[in-house]
Amino acid sequence: MKLKYKIHDNQHQIYFCKKKELHKITECLEKSNSDKNILFVYDDNVNKKIVNNILDELNSFGCNLFVMECKGSKQNKNEKFLFKILDILLKNKFTKKSIIISFGGGVVGDVTALASSLYLRGLIYFCIPTTMTAIVDSSIGGKTAINYKGVINSIGNYYHPNTVFILEETVKEIPDREYFAGFAEIIKCGLIGKNKILTFLEEERSGLINRKIEKVFKICLMTLDTKIKFFSGDIYEKNLRLMLNFGHTFAHAIEMAIENNLKKDFIRHGEAVGIGILCEIYYSNKKKNNLFKSVFNFLKSFNLPVNLDNSNIPIKKIKIQNEIYKNLFLDKKKVDKHPRYISLKKKGDPSIKEMKDYDFINDTILQVIFEDK
Ligand SMILES: NC(=O)c1ccc[n+]([C@@H]2O[C@H](COP(=O)([O-])OP(=O)(O)OC[C@H]3O[C@@H](n4cnc5c(N)ncnc54)[C@H](O)[C@@H]3O)[C@@H](O)[C@H]2O)c1
Repeated sequence: MKLKYKIHDNQHQIYFCKKKELHKITECLEKSNSDKNILFVYDDNVNKKIVNNILDELNSFGCNLFVMECKGSKQNKNEKFLFKILDILLKNKFTKKSIIISFGGGVVGDVTALASSLYLRGLIYFCIPTTMTAIVDSSIGGKTAINYKGVINSIGNYYHPNTVFILEETVKEIPDREYFAGFAEIIKCGLIGKNKILTFLEEERSGLINRKIEKVFKICLMTLDTKIKFFSGDIYEKNLRLMLNFGHTFAHAIEMAIENNLKKDFIRHGEAVGIGILCEIYYSNKKKNNLFKSVFNFLKSFNLPVNLDNSNIPIKKIKIQNEIYKNLFLDKKKVDKHPRYISLKKKGDPSIKEMKDYDFINDTILQVIFEDK
């Protein structure tokens, strides 16, 4: 199974590889016209057996292979990680014809992609995502970034992987939490696009929860296809691509409020996106309407949180509440003084709007994020 798309006349592809199809990776490397210097950057939380299988495959390609182990999770998405990659490239005299492969979640992918774009202004980049968020979202679209001084994705650019490989072995090994977190981005694409994602999620829930590979590949394909439709004509996010930010104004505000206080990965990006989607539906409709209730149930049915259970967060509720409010104004989509968000009144019909009703922002934080009765 394969999905193709074009960026600025360049062909890119996503391969879905069943077990024993790792040779597709080396086949693509062969076609990439490289100098056969490869840096493989992998997340040390990923099952070592799969890492070794990929390394065996790369070695069979007869390349000059360098391996860098690193740690995923958002507190490592920083300049230290970025420069560690750049140092290896420089020290080993990589050229513009050399290859970087990332094997990890959204954090490893985003930082490795940024390094690939910066070193000699760009070398050949391949991506093998290992969490559901990375598979259905961060592996395509070309957004790269590090977090800097407490602001999420504040330093970054656009750089697209030559090819993405989605491996059956990896899908089966993703820990439950990293698997389900990605379903928030799937539900997001189901809500903003004109597609059958939500129906498929409803009808094939059991197969998806049990990771039947045909079902998982199918939902990933539908989601990636939707994402491609939104970004391919608007790489630099001037209009249509902005819709992919549905849920993210609140999600980033929540993530920053928690992480800047706790300095640890308390909430996954996908989990925050799920809660953010609910906030933006509530803010758009000014009430918990049927759309809100159905998305609430969808998120729950894929084991996603629907609010912040404050009792689990060792920070005072009023402090997080105030920080979420303040962080909303750091929104990167902002063009004037008001933060912007994606409004959704009915499925398939998103629009970008400003959040001008500051009292209702506070109401949303209380009614949705803290679910005040
Ligand atoms: N570039 C984009 O378009 C885009 C889109 C969505 C998210 N993102 C970014 O992606 C990041 C979130 O991605 P994520 O949720 O994958 O986070 P992550 O990369 O931090 O992974 C979450 C955790 O899972 C571990 N992990 C990863 N793969 C594993 C595996 N197969 N087995 C066991 N453990 C594994 C990691 O070490 C980490 O502890 C955020 O920084 C977000 O900003 C980027």
